[in-house]
Amino acid sequence: MEAEKIKSEVDKIKSLFEQELQIAEDEETKIRQIRTKYLEELNKLFKLIRELKDPEEKREIGKILNRTKEYFEEITQSKLEKKEITKIEIPDISIESYFGFHGSLHPITIALRQITQIFEKMGFEVEEGPEIETDWYNFTALNIPPEHPARDMQDTFYLEDGRLLRTHTSPVQIRAMEKRKGKLPVKIIAPGRVFRRDWDATHSPVFHQVEGLYVDKVVRMSDLFGILEFFFKNFFDGKVKVRFRPSYFPFTEPSAEVDISCICDGKEPACKVCKGTGFVEVAGCGMVNPAVFKNVGYEDVRGFAFGMGVERLCMIKFGINDVRLFFGANFVAFKRRYF
Ligand code: DAH
Repeated sequence: MEAEKIKSEVDKIKSLFEQELQIAEDEETKIRQIRTKYLEELNKLFKLIRELKDPEEKREIGKILNRTKEYFEEITQSKLEKKEITKIEIPDISIESYFGFHGSLHPITIALRQITQIFEKMGFEVEEGPEIETDWYNFTALNIPPEHPARDMQDTFYLEDGRLLRTHTSPVQIRAMEKRKGKLPVKIIAPGRVFRRDWDATHSPVFHQVEGLYVDKVVRMSDLFGILEFFFKNFFDGKVKVRFRPSYFPFTEPSAEVDISCICDGKEPACKVCKGTGFVEVAGCGMVNPAVFKNVGYEDVRGFAFGMGVERLCMIKFGINDVRLFFGANFVAFKRRYF
C-alpha cells in the first residue's frame, strides 16, 4: 500500500473511532472495547510500514500512526477516569442463607478428644467399659454396698434382670485392675457415657465422664494434684484457677472435689453455671480406698483415682449455660449462640 492510502485509512479509522466513542457515552465496558478494537486496527497499519520503500515516507507514516495511537489511548483513558462513569452493576439476587454453618464435631467430641490427648501425653492408656453394668461393678466393688446412702444420689435406670445403666465411669477402675491381674502400673483413663435420673439446667439423664486411675507401688496424693492441675491448665490454656476441697467418696480415702473458676469469674451473681459462687465443681478424686483393692485382689499397692464431668468442662470452655442443649435437637439455636 502506498503512503497516501495509509494516511487516508488512518483518517477513516479516526473518524469511526470518534463516532463510536460518542455513541458509547460513558459506559465503561464499551469504552474499553472501542479502545481495543481501534488500537488493533492501527496495529494492522503499523505492519504496512515495512512495505514502504522511501525512508522519508516510512518515518512520516510512523509518526502519524504513533500520534493517532496516543490520541486513542489518551481520549479513552480520560473518559474512563471521569467520575460519573456508569458501571454496570449486576444485582445480587440471592437470599442470605439461613444455615450459614455447615456442621462441625459436637463440642463433647471435641472435648473428649482433647482430654484424651492430654492424658496420653502423661502416659495414660484409654480403657473402655460397658454402659450396661452389674450392681457389683457399678456399686458393690466400689465400696458402695446395697444399703449405702451414696446409692440414693446415683439413682438410675434398671433392667429387669437387675443390671443397670452405669451411673459413673468408676466401674472401669475395677474392670481395668481385674484385666491386668496385678500387673503394675495401672495407668488408665476411661472416657464414656453415663446415666442418672436427673433433669435440670446442670443435670441431664445422659452425660459423659472421664475416669482416671493410677496404681503402683508408690503413688502419692501430691501426684494426683499435680496431674489434675496440669490437665486443667492445658485444657483451658492456663486460663483457670483450680481448687481442691476435702470431700467424701466411698471408693477413695481421703477424697477431694475439684473446682475450677467459672467463665463469669465470680462477677455475675445470677450466673447459671456457678450460681454466683465463681467456682464450678468439675471432678471428684482421691486415694483409692484399700477396700477397693481388696475387692480386686491387689495387695501392697497404692493408687489415686479421679472422675470428671465432660459437659461441665465443655460449658466452661465454650460458654454454654444449659447442659440440656448438648442433647437437644435444636442445633441451630445451639450453634448460633455458641459457635
Ligand atoms: N464416680 C464419682 C461420681 O460420679 C466421681 C469420682 C469421684 C470418681 C472420686 C473417682 C473418684 O474416681 O476418685 O460422682
